[in-house]
Amino acid sequence: MVRSTFVLSLLASAGGFLSTEAKKLAEAKHLPGSYVVEFEDSQDASDFFNRIGSKAKTRMNFDSSIFKGVSIQFHDTETAEDEAAALIDLASVKRVWPNRIYDLPKDEIIWTGKTKDASAAHSNVKRQSSPDTFSPHVMTQVDKLRAKGITGKGIKIAVIDTGVDYTHPALGGCFGPGCLVSYGSDIVGDDYTGFNTPVPDDDPYDGCAGHGSHVSGIIAAQANDYGFTGAAPGVTLGAYRVFGCTGSAANDVLIEAYLRAFEDGSNIITASIGGASGWSEDPWAVVVSRIVDAGVPCTVSAGNAGANGLFYASTASNGKRVTSIASVDNWLTPVLLTDSFFSIDSGDEQTFGYVVGDPSAWAGVNLPLWAPSFDTAEVDQACNPFPADTPDLSEKIVLIRRGTCTFVQKVTNAANAGAKYVLFYNNVPAGASGPSVTGVTAIKAVGMTTAAQGVAWVGSLAAGSEVVLNMVDPETAPVSLITSNNTLTGGAPSTYTTWNPTYEMDVKPQVASPGGNILSTWPQALGSYAVISGTSMSCPHVAGIYALIAEVRGTFDPATLEALVASTANPRLYNAGSGDANVFAPVAQVGAGLVQAYDAAYATTLLSTSSLAFNDTDHLDKTLKFTIKNLGKKAVTYKLGSVGAATAYTFSDSIYPDPFPGLEVSDEYAKIKLSGSSVTVPARGSAVVAVTVTPPKLDGTRLPVYSGYITLNGTNGENLSLPYNGAVGSLYSTRVLDTGYLAISSDPNLVPVNGSASFVLSKDPTADVTIPVAVALMAFGSPQISIKLVQIKGKTTKNLGDIFDSPFHYAPRDEYPSAFDGRLADGSYVPAGEYKFSIEALHIFGNAKKAKDWDVAVSAPFTIRYG
Ligand SMILES: *[C@@H]1O[C@H](CO)[C@@H](O)[C@H](O)[C@H]1NC(C)=O
Ligand SMILES: *[C@@H]1O[C@H](CO)[C@@H](O)[C@H](O)[C@H]1NC(C)=O
Ligand SMILES: *[C@@H]1O[C@H](CO)[C@@H](O)[C@H](O)[C@H]1NC(C)=O
Ligand SMILES: *[C@@H]1O[C@H](CO)[C@@H](O)[C@H](O)[C@H]1NC(C)=O
Ligand SMILES: *[C@@H]1O[C@H](CO)[C@@H](O)[C@H](O)[C@H]1NC(C)=O
Repeated sequence: MVRSTFVLSLLASAGGFLSTEAKKLAEAKHLPGSYVVEFEDSQDASDFFNRIGSKAKTRMNFDSSIFKGVSIQFHDTETAEDEAAALIDLASVKRVWPNRIYDLPKDEIIWTGKTKDASAAHSNVKRQSSPDTFSPHVMTQVDKLRAKGITGKGIKIAVIDTGVDYTHPALGGCFGPGCLVSYGSDIVGDDYTGFNTPVPDDDPYDGCAGHGSHVSGIIAAQANDYGFTGAAPGVTLGAYRVFGCTGSAANDVLIEAYLRAFEDGSNIITASIGGASGWSEDPWAVVVSRIVDAGVPCTVSAGNAGANGLFYASTASNGKRVTSIASVDNWLTPVLLTDSFFSIDSGDEQTFGYVVGDPSAWAGVNLPLWAPSFDTAEVDQACNPFPADTPDLSEKIVLIRRGTCTFVQKVTNAANAGAKYVLFYNNVPAGASGPSVTGVTAIKAVGMTTAAQGVAWVGSLAAGSEVVLNMVDPETAPVSLITSNNTLTGGAPSTYTTWNPTYEMDVKPQVASPGGNILSTWPQALGSYAVISGTSMSCPHVAGIYALIAEVRGTFDPATLEALVASTANPRLYNAGSGDANVFAPVAQVGAGLVQAYDAAYATTLLSTSSLAFNDTDHLDKTLKFTIKNLGKKAVTYKLGSVGAATAYTFSDSIYPDPFPGLEVSDEYAKIKLSGSSVTVPARGSAVVAVTVTPPKLDGTRLPVYSGYITLNGTNGENLSLPYNGAVGSLYSTRVLDTGYLAISSDPNLVPVNGSASFVLSKDPTADVTIPVAVALMAFGSPQISIKLVQIKGKTTKNLGDIFDSPFHYAPRDEYPSAFDGRLADGSYVPAGEYKFSIEALHIFGNAKKAKDWDVAVSAPFTIRYG
């Protein structure tokens, strides 16, 4: 029996006392009163079920070779913490974790179609299944594999997500054996929010969320009128639905989905889901790691929290041996314009394209254009109220240049002159986007056309012509795909991609693939197609590539696939938002770089690892070794070298990591010494290379993270690179606790209380009273946060130990409020009197038994009595 990873809960037990906002803060992370319990392998669990008796109901039973246990929900959330603590002492119980809540990464939805029946989707794009010219495929050599007829035929990929709209013709049109989506289930039901009871059924249909339908299309979309396919359209998909129409998913739901996907014989499992972590010990990450150990490769998106700076790894991508996928921007930015008609001075009807906004009641509108100004360079057009002599605009379509003030402000000014329809034209050359002005009730429809079209129309109006738009119903109008070349950031790391490494210096992410501006399928009920940006999009692309490589090589071995995609990937140049700098992007941002599927599929050189982790200065692994295996029929000589990538500074003048963009990078590289300048490996033989690092001499208090690539140029024509990563400084010495203080449960902002406060508590846990809250503000992650209660008696003080909710394990950096209702960790009430909180956080790699390994903050004193 191992006593471990216990409470990450915050206000679980006293949740009822908190203001709504403070409660939300707590609930955002953990399902109150609910736990995931793992049983010892060989033990009968009757002692467990006898102990919980009728106090808790079982949410889910896990009975797999990967994981045996249950998730439970205590009926009384006020005493749940106490009950859960006692469970660890049972012979059958191996571990107990709080049931954490996860969100979909916040991807940016750039465009969605309006067509509710994809078979009627009508675009002016040529159906183009071969050759494959879809830019995410060209960027990653998927086009070269597809040209050879490789499609991932017969391989089973499980997608853990919001389900899939399998009725979509590009997603197969049906569900079950013989269909593209051939297996899977709904673990949760439409109404699941993450906080209520899941209602499972057999049907993983996604008609309301969309995310899983987009992800599934990236893997396996069939040829369609938008001219693209998924990376591996020959695979069969398993859809495991873990989100309802809105909201989050709990740990036990994710674990259940993974176990089912594994037991159902999936060859590859992918999830575009995550939560701030930085620790590989999270229970979901543990389950995913074990599935990888059992031979099934798992890809998980790295997360979209790039703005948070270094050391913000997302779970479960930060699990050991889980392949974490970063994002680069698409070379081409797709823009989809809805077609409609116009005529000048009653001449022939001509076609133009625009992006439909919200609202969108354009159907049948046939009205002349009117422009508030003929100045097509005016930066703040229509930002001020229209002049008094403006004509009645109720029978016009108002044409306004985009820029400066909000769309809402511009349409409000137009609506005040009677307008019901507004069409914007763009103020930059590339594309257009759909404005939303739903709050302005007088407006019936908006949209945006390109800059070129808007300027041309204004020219006609200025010349005295009449321009009449004859608007086609957007739900049935054809759509034209226009692509603009993203010359600024195409192929560069997406700025939103999450920075790593983990708090324990594991190398993450592993590789990157296109995630910025990706066209894929969308539920028919929501418009049939969409363009979205995020690591949610880059991750399934690599799952599809794994299937293609597996078809070529005949293996699913996770370590082999990961080593192949990493060694053949192309390192990227650094991008802080305005394009490529003249230095390689840090491994902590893009891992090995952009995946090259063809090179990975046919490489005859296999490295024993996908990366090298040198750790920090305290734990420097000065010399690491890797093995080169030559799978070819001839001896190969590899020229060995190394190249540095940008060193990224975690901190500048604050104990909080610097945000990105804004964090400092430099070209101060580590020195790498290799065991030789070249090595010859016989046919079907192997050789070991030793890599010795001398980290750059830099200010360790700023925790600079250095990285780069070992390069191998083979006489067989294969040029490979192996990423390495390390830090200068001491994670152990890094301060983790910013501050800790006393706040009041009725204050939604939890501001510090400065004077001495007094509280009247109740021993009835359901009473609605205002109680003290200990708040820990974490600047960096900590393996354990403890909230202790200190009794004050005159001049003497006595530490009474952890309060009821405490401690929390494996905490990401965040705000941790902990309400105190008078109880200590053992459930006993302390007497009335004067107290203060001692808020304590253990350093990374710290020893919990050593006082000096803890950061401590002591709160203002307060008095309690019981009412
Ligand atoms: C995009 O522009 C770059 C730079 O001008 C050019 O090298 C590349 O070929 C273009 N790509 C496409 C797909 O047009
Ligand atoms: C770094 O060293 C610490 C302490 O030995 C260890 O726990 C951790 O796993 C190491 N990290 C890696 C990536 O090897
Ligand atoms: C390996 O090849 C790359 C080009 O692919 C080149 O930039 C690099 O210098 C070569 N390395 C060695 C050690 O020759
Ligand atoms: C490998 O690098 C060499 C230069 O060192 C270059 O000539 C060759 O084209 C590269 N091969 C591939 C497959 O990129
Ligand atoms: C206590 O002092 C801090 C810092 O001066 C201030 O931000 C906070 O609002 C004060 N709290 C209250 C309850 O006045």
